[in-house]
Amino acid sequence: MLTEEETPLAKERIGIMGGSFNPIHMRHVEMAKAARKEYKLDRVLFLPTGNPPHKKTGLEDAEHRYEMTRLAIFGMEGMEASRMELEREGVIYTVDTLGLMQKKYAGADLYYIIDEDTMIDLPNWRKPEKVFQLCDFIVCCRATDEPKEHPVYKKLRKMGAKLHFLSLPPMDVSSTAIREKLADGQAPEELSPQVMEYIRIMGLYDVPQSPKGGELIYEKLRKALTDKRLVHSLLVAHTARKLAEVSHTDVEQAGLAGLLHDCAKCMPLNEMQEVAKEHRLLVDREVLQSENLLHAYAGAALAESVYGVKDYAVLAAIRCHTTGRIGMLPLDMALYLADKIEPSRRSYPVLEELRRLSYEGRLLEAMRYSLGSTVEYVKKNKGKLHGATLRTAQWLDHIHAEWQKKQSHDI
Ligand SMILES: [Fe+2]
Ligand SMILES: [Fe+2]
Repeated sequence: MLTEEETPLAKERIGIMGGSFNPIHMRHVEMAKAARKEYKLDRVLFLPTGNPPHKKTGLEDAEHRYEMTRLAIFGMEGMEASRMELEREGVIYTVDTLGLMQKKYAGADLYYIIDEDTMIDLPNWRKPEKVFQLCDFIVCCRATDEPKEHPVYKKLRKMGAKLHFLSLPPMDVSSTAIREKLADGQAPEELSPQVMEYIRIMGLYDVPQSPKGGELIYEKLRKALTDKRLVHSLLVAHTARKLAEVSHTDVEQAGLAGLLHDCAKCMPLNEMQEVAKEHRLLVDREVLQSENLLHAYAGAALAESVYGVKDYAVLAAIRCHTTGRIGMLPLDMALYLADKIEPSRRSYPVLEELRRLSYEGRLLEAMRYSLGSTVEYVKKNKGKLHGATLRTAQWLDHIHAEWQKKQSHDI
């Protein structure tokens, strides 16, 4: 019997999701998550294919497909995007990729995650018997509950394929249908919001580009922010557009403000203070000493000077996104609220009600509710509130009272 020290380390179990991911959608992610859970995989690698030797119509560039994949799975435990196939040239066969993976992850057990259409096509792969020696397959149903009934299943078993099945109910989600919806002006719900926003920024799949020059903005932002902050910014942009839509405000302005609202957030305080000095920002001492407050003012200055935003309304919204301001416009409110309610926000006591009011387009009420609960919370915890926040809360109470007065007169 082996002693504890002599026990060989458990082999790593790696799942592989191959595909063009043109674009990556919820079903891909769902399959990877289910495979990881049901077959106890340590991690799942997503391998977007590289650019084929001859450009295919409708296939976006490999770098875009890789970036969308990276964004879609960001923050998910045990999920990674790999550039392995991107960096190889010519026609790439799975048998070669698996050979490379065997070398890179020596000793690991490989599980290739596929759907039933791919399973049916397996005998046509290059050197299938070799492939079957290199990995197991985890099959997810797309159109039928009984893939084992398919005549190819028996054939594959005879050829030595090791096939396992996922318990996910069949569902037909296709990238082709998603691309058609995108070209038709829809925002398909099978896409994660950060991926949808990336598609807009880059103007992929015939979606009108928003903002104009989005490639350059994104490139700079990707360097300036952590991945977490980048994904948050995409989600705020996405949410701000929705709020602008329901409150009949300019959707383009809201998207741009959302994308750039935290562009200064990852700078150290002393650099933010340099920006404040250089741009002669009119801020009080309290703001100047607080990263949480100063990043909004510094962000507006950088949005103009580094990112080329000339739209005063967008800059003003960025400037007041942490404190609010007296006389806030619907665009300011859409950004302020989007920052509070974007989909990755972890639940806090007033979040659900805030979401409801916001998505119903009742931005003023939502603002009053948000600021009111902040004021209450700070009071209860004997904290300190910035004057601008307090003044905004009082202003919102005032216009609410005026509105109520007007309503009772009208009756
Ligand atoms: Fe912020
Ligand atoms: Fe933010």
